[in-house]
Amino acid sequence: MRILITGGAGFIGSHLADKYLSEGWEVRVLDSLQPRVHPEGLPKYLAGDAEFIQGDVTDLSVWNRALEGVDVVSHQAAYQDYFPDYGHFSRVNVLGTALLFESIAAHRHTVRRIVVASSQAVYGEGQYRCPEHGMLLPPNRPLHQLESKDWEVHCPRCQAPMTPVLLNETHPSPLSPYGVSKYAQEITALRLAAAVGVPCTALRYSITQGARQSLFNQYSGIARIFALKLKANKPPIAFEDGGLQRDYVHVADVVAANWLVSRDERAIGEAFNVGSGRVTTVLEYARRLAAQMGKSIEPEVPGLFRVGDARHSCSSIEKIGTLGWKPERSLDQILADFLAWVDTYTDLSRFSSDAQQQLMNLNVLRMSHAS
Ligand SMILES: NC(=O)c1ccc[n+]([C@@H]2O[C@H](COP(=O)([O-])OP(=O)(O)OC[C@H]3O[C@@H](n4cnc5c(N)ncnc54)[C@H](O)[C@@H]3O)[C@@H](O)[C@H]2O)c1
Repeated sequence: MRILITGGAGFIGSHLADKYLSEGWEVRVLDSLQPRVHPEGLPKYLAGDAEFIQGDVTDLSVWNRALEGVDVVSHQAAYQDYFPDYGHFSRVNVLGTALLFESIAAHRHTVRRIVVASSQAVYGEGQYRCPEHGMLLPPNRPLHQLESKDWEVHCPRCQAPMTPVLLNETHPSPLSPYGVSKYAQEITALRLAAAVGVPCTALRYSITQGARQSLFNQYSGIARIFALKLKANKPPIAFEDGGLQRDYVHVADVVAANWLVSRDERAIGEAFNVGSGRVTTVLEYARRLAAQMGKSIEPEVPGLFRVGDARHSCSSIEKIGTLGWKPERSLDQILADFLAWVDTYTDLSRFSSDAQQQLMNLNVLRMSHAS
């Protein structure tokens, strides 16, 4: 059996490669080695037993070659960043996925199962309950609201504060360029898979963490930024009031979800959340990370906010639970494994570029006005 893992030189894809190799599969990796993720080229952690093709998913001829003799496709390659290059999100995440099916339609290949990585970003600002108007999918909080440090989400109809609910698969509502492209990717995959007659499943990962997250990539988020600050004995900066709610999932649990849905007929044609189902605030995350590092450094909360950030995002894992999946690893284990990965680098200075300043230059990160 042979699997093609696109983005297999990346964080999640490389763990998938290890899993399939350990199950006795032949593994082929297709990865462009995107420079912002891999400025030093092919990562050392990529298993030597995996066949490696350097190529771009936006090139049909690359797909034609990469799909030869493949039984299962795990499509993990994606463009994720904060830059306003909207066309590039669509090109890589949507066109790149359409070409997978175009290649299958033209060449028939041997593919009999496809799993596509989607994201919690398909939920945009999230799902909320208004006491008066019931369940709503609000738009992004307006800039003037955030500038005046009014962080919670209000009902767009009566302005009452709303209560977040666990994100349910039935109500995607993407708002960011990345989220829009991931939802379009998902629909492209599930619909075109039906058209070409190859069973397909989409997995909407929550924030995934563990060893091998690129420490170079600004998009790789909270673990990288907070850990590098704490390593330098500086306080991590929590955005808004630090009360943003998120859920974190261990990469090994994400791998287990991929393995499960690729072999379960009940998963065909469906999209599933893969998360922890448990709310963690950013302040709690910062404190638990500091505790793991043995540092008594409190996060700073200066009133900065990121334009387009969702206030609360925690996925329901009820649907994938019906297939028998549940997360096995705690947040503390996630943090410990991430820190062990950071510790494999003796010189962290090359990662010390100021993510905050870069986001401010892009006008993504802003300071609120109220004192
Ligand atoms: N890590 C998370 O928290 C998270 C959360 C939700 C969804 N996801 C999704 O999971 C998947 C894997 O993410 P990751 O965290 O491992 O990211 P990653 O950046 O570590 O890996 C992605 C890989 O894709 C490759 N790639 C990028 N553009 C490509 C292209 N045009 N052609 C071929 N290869 C290309 C990169 O070089 C990289 O190796 C992505 O689809 C992402 O959208 C990740």
